[in-house]
Amino acid sequence: MQQYIIGNWKMNGTKAESQKLAAGFLKRIQEATRPLPHIVLCPSYPYLTSVFEILKGSPIEVGAQDGHPEKSGSFTGDVSISQLVDVGCKYVIVGHSERRNFHQESSALIRKKIESAIKAGLRPILCIGETEKDRETGKTLEVIGHQVTSDLPSSFMPHDLIIAYEPLWAIGTGKLPKQEEVEEVLGFIKHELSTHIAGGALVPMLYGGSVNAANAPSFLNLPHVDGLLVGGVSLKLDEFWEIVNASTR
Ligand code: PGA
Repeated sequence: MQQYIIGNWKMNGTKAESQKLAAGFLKRIQEATRPLPHIVLCPSYPYLTSVFEILKGSPIEVGAQDGHPEKSGSFTGDVSISQLVDVGCKYVIVGHSERRNFHQESSALIRKKIESAIKAGLRPILCIGETEKDRETGKTLEVIGHQVTSDLPSSFMPHDLIIAYEPLWAIGTGKLPKQEEVEEVLGFIKHELSTHIAGGALVPMLYGGSVNAANAPSFLNLPHVDGLLVGGVSLKLDEFWEIVNASTR
């Protein structure tokens, strides 16, 4: 399976900076001499259209960082999944820990978003992960198992979505899980998914949390890792491109 390198720009940048970054990636991809992984950039809502216009027709896809499950209606401040499709998005991040924590998003809401995205032809990137306390108390697999069963719809096809394992304590902290810890969790998720749906082990599985150009190869070489979800470093053209080039398939 071709790997995925996904950049989550979070609430960063101006319109001009977002356009510059997108144009920079476009130039890199045009000059690329090796097979590339899937590349997805997820800018802030106001810049989705201008980033999409720059990347249109290139292999780089655009994703959103969240989406409302209802098609339209009185939801002040929200952006619907169908509006995201309308402006060219192909992916949407769902259940990021920053949404779960700062917006109290429940598993029921996350599941609705996933269902609605799949129905609209938008591929959700479901983020799951344990807290530091969960890991210290040996509860990692229990917590992950619970997220898998409560966040996911009862039926979907393996290619409908992507799962990103992001230990909360590794996001933006510079702390990293050991390779064997990542493999253990991803292996566990694959096993859980295969009991959940036919072909569940084929769902692409990413690692995310403090990824940079120096540590990316150590994750991209792991058998269960189908790609990376990159936060802070995805705003740095050269370093993100190094990560793209570290993809192994
Ligand atoms: P980080 O963020 O790479 O800055 O740790 C990852 C994420 O939140 O998706």
